[in-house]
Amino acid sequence: MVSVTSKVSATKDPEAKSSTTAMSVSDLVNLLGGPANVNRVLFPNNQLVIEVHDTSLVNTSLVNDGAPRYSLEEVLGKPQLTFDMPEHFDDSSLLELGSVISQQQVQKVDAVSKPVDCEHRPSWHISPPQGLLNDPNGFIYHNGEYHLFYQWYPYACVHKDKYWAHLTSKDLINWEWQPLALTPSDWFDSHGVFSGHALSQGEQLMLFYTGNTRFGNQRDRHTTQCLAVSNDGITFEKLGPVIPKLPEGVTPHIRDPKIVRHGEHWLMLLGAQTTDLKGRLAIYRSSDLHQWEFVSLCGDEMGDFGYMWECPDLFELGGEHFAIVGPQGIESDSAYHTIPHHNGYVKAELDLEGKISLTDFDNLDKGFDFYAPQTMLAADGRRVLSGWMGLPDEINHPSSDNGWVHQLTALRELTNRNGRLVQTPIAEIATLRKEKQCFTLDNSGYQSLCDKAFDMSVVLEWGSELRLHAKADQYVSIRLNETTRSLVFDRTHTLIREGDTKRELLLDSEKVELRILSDESSLEIFVNGGEFVLTGRVFTDKDATGIELRGGASDFEVYPLNAASAPFISSLS
Ligand code: FRU
Repeated sequence: MVSVTSKVSATKDPEAKSSTTAMSVSDLVNLLGGPANVNRVLFPNNQLVIEVHDTSLVNTSLVNDGAPRYSLEEVLGKPQLTFDMPEHFDDSSLLELGSVISQQQVQKVDAVSKPVDCEHRPSWHISPPQGLLNDPNGFIYHNGEYHLFYQWYPYACVHKDKYWAHLTSKDLINWEWQPLALTPSDWFDSHGVFSGHALSQGEQLMLFYTGNTRFGNQRDRHTTQCLAVSNDGITFEKLGPVIPKLPEGVTPHIRDPKIVRHGEHWLMLLGAQTTDLKGRLAIYRSSDLHQWEFVSLCGDEMGDFGYMWECPDLFELGGEHFAIVGPQGIESDSAYHTIPHHNGYVKAELDLEGKISLTDFDNLDKGFDFYAPQTMLAADGRRVLSGWMGLPDEINHPSSDNGWVHQLTALRELTNRNGRLVQTPIAEIATLRKEKQCFTLDNSGYQSLCDKAFDMSVVLEWGSELRLHAKADQYVSIRLNETTRSLVFDRTHTLIREGDTKRELLLDSEKVELRILSDESSLEIFVNGGEFVLTGRVFTDKDATGIELRGGASDFEVYPLNAASAPFISSLS
């Protein structure tokens, strides 16, 4: 047991003498009313701040027997006890305290993570059992298996104290729920284990992530870049911050580490905001993955390009380097697009030191719901992308009524076609196909497909419209406007409550080939062999399985899709 020598502070009783008393972390926890009463630990300015649920359970009688004195403050409605940092209270005592909190969090989440029923629940995309899912995290092939984590707030459809949910797969289609990988339990991540990437190092799976904490009623943000490791790929040990401080000239908005090998070094890329509110990449360098030195901020050549960049990725494909970034606050290329959060890729040139220059931004997805993607190198060398099918500011969707919101995109293989990234659904998706549906798409009006989950191909003629997920008064429209030479993806006639309703993609090709992946509440439209993709969540009634062609189309085929093994089922349900 770790022995803690705690310095009695005079905060509560100014007359009290200072003394030092050895005390274990479990003694401290008992003093605080037991593990279930300890909600959060923070560590601002060398002071130990512990949030409890119920102050009446805190054993004040122990104060005079040598326990640390505290001051009590209500922070956003929760009691926080501030102790002077006990002498000799070291990193491992803090981590031990974190693991006490983590055990409580895991038990609590297990008790509520039964998947809720919902007619909008995807049958083959990854969705959370309950609560809010956002970014995919730590997507990697490690020791013969694929691992995919995601940002998760299990208790409600809101953005709060994020966890890392964990799924594994052998085939990139069927995912198995694993125990929670990381919970917001420690002084460096108690307001959210934010996004990051994984690295496979022999037997060890390393997770680099951002620790998010908020201090006081002002919710001052403090950010560190942290490391957790696992030797079995399932249980993770947090090692704490590897980058505890901000680099010069950057606000606490610096996050989402991506680690890549570059020559003799490792580089860490972070999305960052400069103190003059420009989005940039921050680059760090390391030779052992534990000690990191700041290299530089990159991206000045992009000029004024949003007030913050999030979730970077970097990889080599077809002899060129590409970086992925999520710039916030850049101009949209269409009046229909009112959302500040964008996502796209740039060409990247790396110098020997690890400085990166970026050019030629292009959106990765021209649809409504695509953000914070990550890529990984599959066992066979393919570069595969998973994205968040959702957006940061939207939480009021029909599924939220049933207690869950957002999902991940279909996995997409990236290729470099003449310097541009092309995305196609991974080949494995075909394994979900049922028998091809015998179906002649004609102009006879509304026709019914058997299901909402399907994989469809069609060549649509200019001037034509395809309506999907349709019934009397609900449908999603995909139309080719001959005058503006654009494809319009329109979800006006759905159950949408917030977010844009139209997207427009300018197209100069004579032939428009569409491959459409559909699920209960989403459509992903791959245009001209994946040159463009438009992703959207589309909520319509369960029986809105109709299709209608207005105009001309050819080469139509459709395969209903089987469900994947339910990736939202937790092992305890
Ligand atoms: C992107 C993001 C990340 C952050 C995470 C928090 O959606 O804001 O920058 O790490 O979500 O959940």
